[in-house]
Amino acid sequence: MTPEEMVLDPFSFAADGREEEDSTGERPQPLTAAGALTEPLAGTVPPVRTIVLDRPPTPARPTEHREAVRLAPAAAGPERLSLRDVSVAYGDKEAVKSVSLSIHQGEVLALIGPSGCGKTTLLRTLNRLTELTASASRSGDILLDGEDIHDLVDTTLRSRVAMVFQQPNPFPMSVFDNVAFALREQSRKRPGKRALEPLVIDALRRAGLYDEVADDLDRPALRLSGGQQQRLCIARAIALRPEVLLMDEPCSALDPISTGVIEELIHELRRELAVVIVTHNLAQAHRVADKVAFMYLGDLIEYGTTNEVFEEPRATRTRDYVSGAFG
Ligand SMILES: Nc1ncnc2c1ncn2[C@@H]1O[C@H](COP(=O)(O)OP(=O)(O)OP(=O)(O)O)[C@@H](O)[C@H]1O
Ligand SMILES: [Mg+2]
Repeated sequence: MTPEEMVLDPFSFAADGREEEDSTGERPQPLTAAGALTEPLAGTVPPVRTIVLDRPPTPARPTEHREAVRLAPAAAGPERLSLRDVSVAYGDKEAVKSVSLSIHQGEVLALIGPSGCGKTTLLRTLNRLTELTASASRSGDILLDGEDIHDLVDTTLRSRVAMVFQQPNPFPMSVFDNVAFALREQSRKRPGKRALEPLVIDALRRAGLYDEVADDLDRPALRLSGGQQQRLCIARAIALRPEVLLMDEPCSALDPISTGVIEELIHELRRELAVVIVTHNLAQAHRVADKVAFMYLGDLIEYGTTNEVFEEPRATRTRDYVSGAFG
């Protein structure tokens, strides 16, 4: 992230640092039948597209894909975000291809798919972080509560559609100030510590961290454990009462106990907002998600309830992915 981007986007300060990176570094872990994670399958060859010259080109989204995107699965609450034919390219390379989705309050949507399939790009497009990448272009519509997100001031959008990154990224200041920072940035007057205290405590409580830090809110955030730091980042993100919380592999740097705590928290948070989580961990998607969207090479291949996508996938590609046949 460049200094310019930090100014443009204080809430993504010290973000995942992947702005101009190729994201091929980390490989997803296939799932065994027992649900345990194993090493990537040795010798797995990524599937390739075949170009056939003697007949018309295959449509970008074959019929099977369209049928696999179940259009109106039962929704838990009001629609918050609506995506219509959203495409994103870096230069002339398409990373997300014509994705249409509906994201509702009261539910957790998991974005799954192999490395490089466009999950992070799609997530970052939902609060306009993608536009900070010079080579990125976008088409299609994204509506937040019916309003085009491009009609909103970017910082306002990012307080309403907040984001938590893979690596916990607390600011190098106290626990209290990490949460107060977000509140102060959104306030015209700069409220004092006493005025902010109830709001900071409330956010820490909702993030499930308060009891562990209540004795000393002035301690440096960087002295917290990794799992506590991630919950602090969640507290900072939810302090402004966003409608949507975006989480890009929020547990991948955490131990199983911290992961369990965050998963419980996600479960609780969905009462008040919509959660979109990117995860490589299929068992985690199974545990936390109400809806699952499976992406492959930028296409949304399948979208439905967690049970539908894991137990009765319509597309062959989904079936292969959720059964661990490829990563
Ligand atoms: N800033 C960028 N500039 C150019 N290309 C990019 C950029 N970010 C991502 N890409 C490319 O866009 C495609 C989608 O990348 P993205 O990071 O969205 O995938 P992903 O599904 O999140 O992968 P992973 O599971 O590895 O995190 C990849 O081919 C990647 O190389
Ligand atoms: Mg990613």
